[in-house]
Amino acid sequence: MGIFDSGVGGLCVFREIKKRLPHESIQYFADSHNCPYGSKTKEDALSLSRKNIEFLLEQDCKLIVIACNTVTAVAIDSFRSEYKIPFVGMEPALKPAALQSKTKRIGILATENTLNSRRFKQTFKKYATGLEVFVQPGYGLVELVEQRTQNSDRARCLLSQYLLPMMDKGVDTLVLGCTHYPFLMEMIKQVTKNRITIIDPADAVANQTKRLLTQFDLASNENHHPLFHFYTSGDKKIAQTFIDHAIKTPYILEQVNI
Ligand code: DGL
Repeated sequence: MGIFDSGVGGLCVFREIKKRLPHESIQYFADSHNCPYGSKTKEDALSLSRKNIEFLLEQDCKLIVIACNTVTAVAIDSFRSEYKIPFVGMEPALKPAALQSKTKRIGILATENTLNSRRFKQTFKKYATGLEVFVQPGYGLVELVEQRTQNSDRARCLLSQYLLPMMDKGVDTLVLGCTHYPFLMEMIKQVTKNRITIIDPADAVANQTKRLLTQFDLASNENHHPLFHFYTSGDKKIAQTFIDHAIKTPYILEQVNI
């Protein structure tokens, strides 16, 4: 199966999928060279994502996880009608946040493209009744993660600017609506002094992937020896440090220009 993201963010999703599906071989593509997608035009995000899908299909992937909220928001419907294989996408987890919040005030941190998408507006309409929702584009955060400066003063400063005003308004639950943001988890906890519940949908996506593999009769059996192959269009060393966090077993990493 394949997983892709605009960069290293989707490795948080990879980690959960590997836990839930230990017998599956996984090919992961990180388009770090073209990252971020969150501020690109919808057309550019769509055509870059199409290239990523074609690349994973060339590697014989039977199912693709779009480990990127932005691409899911702008393109998953097109891809589902264009390609025969099943796709799993990512969405800001408003519903679980609504269940957890006591103040019924929720913050959502996501990219500009995700927040402006029709798909997000539909989710919002469906689940935001009875809630006060504070949406905040995470300008600059993805770039910090991609440069491996997620623990820098700049990260602290941006997160304070984005999250403290929400907390002043009584937000007790924060939805991470971008797969790069879990890499900022430590800094988010510091800035918010551990006073908010943080919702990351990666494990729900792993469960959904398992369900779809079973439903389409695509799951590998227990004797299958899984292989893990990572591709990046960006810096191989940076990718390697993130991958080393996500996986302790041997893997292959290649730099590719697709
Ligand atoms: N990791 C991505 C997401 O979940 C994309 C971030 C970006 O490229 O702007 O939205």
